[in-house]
Amino acid sequence: MCYAIPGKLTDIKNNVGVVDYFGEKREARLDLIDARKGDYVFAQGGIIINKISKNEALKIIDAWRELFFKLKKADKELSKIKNPAVEIFQKFNQKNNLSRLEMETLLNTNDPDKIKVLYKFANHIRQKTQGNACCVHGIIEFSNYCRNNCQYCGIRNSSKIKRYRMDAEQIISAAKNAVNKFGFKALVLQSGEDPWYTDDKLDYIVREIRNLGVLVFLSIGQREQKLYEELYRAGARAALLRFETSNSLLFKKLRPGTTLNKRLKLINTLQNIGYIIATGFIIGLPNETDKDLLNNILLTKSLKPDMYSFGPFIPAKATPLEKHNAPDKNNILKTIAVSRLADKDAKILITTALVTLDKNAKKEGLMAGANSLMLNVTPNKYKKLYSIYNNRASIGHNLKDSIELTLDLLKSLGRAPTDLGI
Ligand code: 5AD
Ligand code: SF4
Repeated sequence: MCYAIPGKLTDIKNNVGVVDYFGEKREARLDLIDARKGDYVFAQGGIIINKISKNEALKIIDAWRELFFKLKKADKELSKIKNPAVEIFQKFNQKNNLSRLEMETLLNTNDPDKIKVLYKFANHIRQKTQGNACCVHGIIEFSNYCRNNCQYCGIRNSSKIKRYRMDAEQIISAAKNAVNKFGFKALVLQSGEDPWYTDDKLDYIVREIRNLGVLVFLSIGQREQKLYEELYRAGARAALLRFETSNSLLFKKLRPGTTLNKRLKLINTLQNIGYIIATGFIIGLPNETDKDLLNNILLTKSLKPDMYSFGPFIPAKATPLEKHNAPDKNNILKTIAVSRLADKDAKILITTALVTLDKNAKKEGLMAGANSLMLNVTPNKYKKLYSIYNNRASIGHNLKDSIELTLDLLKSLGRAPTDLGI
């Protein structure tokens, strides 16, 4: 985990650096920039992404010092629990993990009091194992063209929607705005699977954005291995690729033309290339069973991702699933909590789809084990066209307001944003 504040590189061994933040030491990969012991660096997702001068670094560190410890204390206070009376949690404290059956029991809990205890316990574990850092990545949705026809998705190939593509300069300019004006340190570049963006085009875009000194995070779908290899060389280091559902039959039905196996193979290939991975699934697809949900969590864990990304299915206009209902918000919050207990090391993202179900869900998710957010930094005129489902949250907000609201929320919960300076 890393902070928007710089840390001092105190040691380097085999391309892994030890970064000191106010006496707390974190390890981070050192293969993207050239840095030496004693340098001040920024890290994101466990990767050192940039260097800054000692003078500048000390200014930021001084400005942060008091707040850093104040937020930590507030988070600790808010996530305290008495010894939990529930047997499952007592057992968890002894053996430090959950059995499949215990996870199933928790996911099936419907008693509101028990659900509350589950959220509190998951939040407590998040605080103990991950501290109060909460990443806030920016996301640029640069094209809503897609060659695929996933049955749940509003921008599927056969949807008769207004299409857009941002050209390279528009994407780079949106990235510059997010980085130089608002201080983002990690940017997700997301699109449908759109081969109009050739290897050369994407290579250029990634290099230019990487030159801003940020973590470049790809979310471009099942593109070719060769392209991912090229973009790694261009400086991209993270990839978001959900497997969508662990049920291979459901996968085949909902994603014509491809298979779960192929998708998992690509995730594995990306890891072998060196990418850190965000992956996950959709909750509440038609005919999905409780077992599928549990398998989704366990499959995510087995992929050892840096970040879990899952959210509710939300119907999208004029798709084969438009009449199917979204699941209840508590199903997602329970999934966050159980995922946190199942995997203490990963980040868990609160997705826009969850906030679309209920605008309070950001806070609720953060208090149930999640510790990651994304803010949409796509230019307003395109944002509303990325209509993967109906009535997406945050479409009407301008970026400055979204950032302020998010920072206020994080501060009120004692969380330190890792991507944005407070
Ligand atoms: N509801 C929720 N999530 C959806 N996605 C696509 N369509 C929907 C929908 N109707 C998700 C997929 C994809 C991500 C970009 O958006 O999981 O990976
Ligand atoms: Fe394309 Fe992704 Fe939508 Fe499938 S879910 S149609 S791959 S944008």
